Amino acid sequence: MVPRAGETKTSDPHSLLLVDRFGRHHTSLRVSVTDACNIRCRYCMPESVNGFMAQERLMGFEEIERTIRILAGVGITKVRLTGGEPLMRPGLPRLVERISQIPSLQHIALTTNGMLLSDSMHQLAQAGLTHVNISLDTLREETFRRMSRREGLDRVLDGIEAAIQSGLPVRLNAVVLRDINLEDCIPLVEFARSRNITIRFIEFMPLDAERAWNQSQVVTGKELRKRVEDVFGPLALKQDTDPSQPSRDYVFTNGSGGIGFIDPVSEPFCSNCNRLRLTADGKFRNCLFGREEWDVMSLLRRGANDHEILALAMDCVRSKFASHGISDAGFEPPVRAMYQIGG
Ligand code: 5AD
Ligand code: SF4
Repeated sequence: MVPRAGETKTSDPHSLLLVDRFGRHHTSLRVSVTDACNIRCRYCMPESVNGFMAQERLMGFEEIERTIRILAGVGITKVRLTGGEPLMRPGLPRLVERISQIPSLQHIALTTNGMLLSDSMHQLAQAGLTHVNISLDTLREETFRRMSRREGLDRVLDGIEAAIQSGLPVRLNAVVLRDINLEDCIPLVEFARSRNITIRFIEFMPLDAERAWNQSQVVTGKELRKRVEDVFGPLALKQDTDPSQPSRDYVFTNGSGGIGFIDPVSEPFCSNCNRLRLTADGKFRNCLFGREEWDVMSLLRRGANDHEILALAMDCVRSKFASHGISDAGFEPPVRAMYQIGG
């Protein structure tokens, strides 16, 4: 029988409802609020998009809040807002404010490309945002243009500045494509250290809309780490890192800043995965690479009760595979690309 999750105000850390067949507890929910984006990173989006999701297909703030509230009742403690570019969704601070009222949530994070951040950072912080991740793959305008097929590096840098000024913990995310921005990794690390913030390198995953992913473009965390250590000296693994988080985090043994490597391609971390996803059009997904989706939007719109919503989330969690299988023979990338799933 499904407990009355929606009525539970505080989460039960011992709840077994969001535990999958491999014993993985799901405590983190990534919520995409839009598939729209104002740039076109080649590891994610196509050059031109044939229309984004129509407004009526997007989950409303009330629907998002309700879904999060139900899941927070059974152990979800962390929410990350993603997109597309989440700040393309009008009124995002209002959503943050709504979900910050959910008592058991400890973490409301945002993953953004930074382009629109300087305008709304203050409001987001006031609304209760707790963490900000900003994508930054290069410090050179020309490389930014090649990578994102748009202008705007200066706006991203302004966004980073605003985020630092807000006082919230800020992290940079960088994806390295061998033929485009490999030479940028050292300047990026220098930049992060100079601002005393953490940078994480994420391996290029086969989630690009153009299906141009190729192993030869992937620069592994191991290779990047060697490059970094050759310049900055040895890195020391950070102690007491949460094993469910995908990044292997290090500190510099000679000064400030932190660095992490997210290596889903060369060193899959699926065995500790604690993440569940909600797409902008209201589908649960149990994996970035999953081929199946659970339609919560339809349930919400036909007036389903909290039990039904929770039962759907449980079904999604319990259907999760042991790993993403990127390296398996016959691997097929998901039908939807990163911007449509939620980064
Ligand atoms: N591989 C790895 N990371 C990706 N991101 C987007 N597409 C990919 C991909 N194919 C990352 C971006 C951003 C976040 C939204 O997802 O760097 O930080
Ligand atoms: Fe936009 Fe983010 Fe995709 Fe880049 S990675 S195109 S910023 S959604």
